Amino acid sequence: MPHSPRSHRRRILHPLPLLAAGALIAAGAVALPQLTPDADAATTLRGYADGRGVRIGAAVGDTPLTADSSYTAVLDREFNSVTAENAMKWDALEPSRGTYDWAAADRLVAHARAHHQGVRGHTLAWYAQLPSWLKNGNFTAAQLNTILKNHINTTVGRYKGKVYAWDVVNETLNDDGSMRSSLWQDKLGTGYIANALKWAHAADPAAKLYINDYNIEAAGAKSDALYALAKRLLAQGVPLNGIGFQSHFVVGQVPPTMKANLKRFSDLGLEVSVTELDIRIPLPASSAELAQQSADYKTASENCLGVAHCAGVTVWGLTDKYSWIPGTFNGYGAALPYNANYAAKRAYTGLSIGLNPAA
Ligand code: G3I
Repeated sequence: MPHSPRSHRRRILHPLPLLAAGALIAAGAVALPQLTPDADAATTLRGYADGRGVRIGAAVGDTPLTADSSYTAVLDREFNSVTAENAMKWDALEPSRGTYDWAAADRLVAHARAHHQGVRGHTLAWYAQLPSWLKNGNFTAAQLNTILKNHINTTVGRYKGKVYAWDVVNETLNDDGSMRSSLWQDKLGTGYIANALKWAHAADPAAKLYINDYNIEAAGAKSDALYALAKRLLAQGVPLNGIGFQSHFVVGQVPPTMKANLKRFSDLGLEVSVTELDIRIPLPASSAELAQQSADYKTASENCLGVAHCAGVTVWGLTDKYSWIPGTFNGYGAALPYNANYAAKRAYTGLSIGLNPAA
């Protein structure tokens, strides 16, 4: 891992201008600690995470990364890990067969390197965001096997030593615990999961290899099925290192069984990570809901950090200015720790305390 969170300590040199900070507080945002050139980076999310030896990450879109300096200022001050929100998905990387477009993914990896952030790779074998040549190619099982193997070799190989963890397999189960229909599952059977993990391990033996999914945070049929799958893979010696709990929550609904559920995976010797945390609120968000959301961010992050092998927490975006929620869940939004004007919400404080009780 090129950038251990523990190894990164620096001074904050870009304080929030005082006038802007005053306006934010007047607008109901939380009072952030005053960051002066002498303030210590320990008073940021990444400072708290560094202190705990874990990652605090954000999913990053290429557009804000390249075009919004307010966004990158927050990203680089507060986060020690990044995940490509879309840039490492198959449709983005190989829009036509054999023609790779690495530009956006390379940009994120270079940005992370320059700002001492680790990179979570997302994602290699998924049912969604496949390029149409692949989706509609009517390939045989043997061809698909080779195509998947080559994709994993090429992508993991390109970022060898630069990506500390990969979501190798994404969203492979239905809510009832059965295997989800996908190009891979339907044509290759469940064996594609072990193969994908083995190919990724061969391409970068140091990267932590994950299965990532949603609706597995609570105890229940889907989480039980994943637990059984993980146990089986480990017994077979398959290089599975971690489970990613996406954690797309609704305000007030962090599952009470989450911590115990994460613990049973951790007890298998697996890393556990919260990989896509956001907490959506019906709009307009009331003051009580924003307070509840803060408590939920605290609980969700504590649930991970309270477990032996928690590697960290990633939020799926950082500001309500760019979030997948309003486009997918009609009438919902306000899901992230910063509002659309980059004012820290109470959720930021909840997340801070979840990372460091003394925050
Ligand atoms: O790339 C095209 C672009 O060429 C086109 O001009 C534009 C017009 O709409 O669409 C672009 O594709 C969009 C893509 O994001 C990149 O911006 C898709 O329409 C849009 O559906 C896609 O949404 C992403 C979604 O995954 C797709 O499944 C969201 O941004 C992203 O946040 C979301 O992330 C997923 C995780 O990968 C897995 N877990 C769930 C999570 C939320 O759905």
